[in-house]
Amino acid sequence: MESKKRYTITSALPYTNGRLHIGHLAGAYIPADIYARFKRITDNDVAYICGSDEHGVAISIRAKKENKTPKEIIDKYHALIKKSFDDFGISFDNYSRTSSKIHHETASEFFEFLNKKNCFEIKKSKQLYDPVENQFLADRFVEGECPHCGFEHAYGDQCENCGSSLSPEQLINPISKISGAKPEEKETTHWYLPLGEYENFIKNWFLKDKKDSAKSNVYGQVKSWIDQGLESRAITRDLDWGIPVPHKDGDGKVLYVWFDAPIGYISSTKEWAKNENKDWELYWKDKNTKLIHFIGKDNIVFHCIIFPIILKAHGEYILPENIPANEFLNLEGKKFSTSKNWAIWIDEFLKDFPNMQDSLRYTLTVNAPETKDNDFTWKDFQARNNNELVAIFGNFVNRVLVLTHKYYDGFVPESGDLNTAEKQILKSAYEVPQLISDALDNYKFRQAINLLIDLSRLGNKYLADEEPWKLYKSGNVEKVKKIMFVALQLCGLLSVLSEPFLPNASKKIRQILNIKEKKWTELTISNPILKEKKQINKPALIFRKIEDEEIKNQISKLND
Ligand code: 2FM
Ligand code: ZN
Repeated sequence: MESKKRYTITSALPYTNGRLHIGHLAGAYIPADIYARFKRITDNDVAYICGSDEHGVAISIRAKKENKTPKEIIDKYHALIKKSFDDFGISFDNYSRTSSKIHHETASEFFEFLNKKNCFEIKKSKQLYDPVENQFLADRFVEGECPHCGFEHAYGDQCENCGSSLSPEQLINPISKISGAKPEEKETTHWYLPLGEYENFIKNWFLKDKKDSAKSNVYGQVKSWIDQGLESRAITRDLDWGIPVPHKDGDGKVLYVWFDAPIGYISSTKEWAKNENKDWELYWKDKNTKLIHFIGKDNIVFHCIIFPIILKAHGEYILPENIPANEFLNLEGKKFSTSKNWAIWIDEFLKDFPNMQDSLRYTLTVNAPETKDNDFTWKDFQARNNNELVAIFGNFVNRVLVLTHKYYDGFVPESGDLNTAEKQILKSAYEVPQLISDALDNYKFRQAINLLIDLSRLGNKYLADEEPWKLYKSGNVEKVKKIMFVALQLCGLLSVLSEPFLPNASKKIRQILNIKEKKWTELTISNPILKEKKQINKPALIFRKIEDEEIKNQISKLND
């Protein structure tokens, strides 16, 4: 394993316009949390950063729907989202919000810095205007047909079907989301980021330099966007909700939410560094820091093209090392939908399945939409939990703990010299930390979690082949000690290696085994994780079975 490095890890800032559901978790949060925990447990310096995205039209629309002010909406959903993350155990080092003072200041300074550097074009253009509401129709205030894929409900800033980034004027048959009126066109002035000027930079930095490291789904989307040609993009809007444009001509205008939101990663880091007495600049400006953005596929262009161009234009910032975007997760064959209530809300999941975060983490990782869209079904959740976590992982750990208490009153036996086969099992087991590390370093979360389960499979097979219970009965006690010593080391390894994936199970097993958190860098075959004669505690339930009835209830709740 490599020596200590610094990592700035971000998860997409969720819009505070609704609750958090498991589709969100699968895309940008569970993989990032696994990665952040993995980097911490392999002894790196990690800042895992997130926060609420509280500007943009999505918030204003929700406020209108709920007959509340945007401020009331962001306060309500920020609190709900933050609580869901806390209860679920996502290990952010900081969770901030873009309505904070530090963010308004940071984003405004960023704009002013770029403006002074003449990085923007200021242009007049005709934009869509709602004649009934007397306001411009930016971004999600307008919907229409996507010019690229024909999807009928594309937003003015983006098509959620094909991932294209759009501007309202590109939509076919646009309709105002506020009044339902057919928009008119009206002239207005805005600040634009001339993306075209950075085409060579993006081609070199991403298409050339990231060719081997970018995930294929990410690379493909970025390439097709660049192939369509990079056009100037407005980074201000005629709206009343957002960060006021800090310029004498900025009256009635705010920064575009996709300009301010990614800067939210920086302001959240600043907030964290201030509280922790650290230097935030090391996490954003030191070329030895690796910056990794975890996002869903609808955010690819913003993180792979627009934000890197903003950082490049500024000149003092590092650029992302990787942007391992996931595809989408569907639910029982259909797209998640907040408005149709087709979702599994995190707060409700935790009420119905208390203390079962790890079971959901497991299912969403083993079945992650890593390179293509994937489907979550309640039946699969039950099967993964019962047939894999309970029957393979939990079963192995439990058998070893029970036998250790039965044969040795809970003390790790003295093994004496191990034979070649026993040494081989240990050797294979101690190779797993490196194998999992390699998989995670390549953002192969499914492969990594399978390696973990395979280690418990190896343990189960070992016990089934050796049958220590038979040897014990027949009086071959010396051999049983060796087998149990080896099996206990596997349990110890599982407890430490499961931390990034199944943090609650990891903690429970470590408490039973009486071992403190251990860095993976300390795991070596010559220094057994459980020493001879060490006392361990009584076994306790690690995973519980999910009954058919519980799954039936969830399916009917979904279809209600
Ligand atoms: O798509 C979304 O939910 C956005 N709120 C993500 C923002 S990510 C970042 F740039 F802030
Ligand atoms: Zn489309």
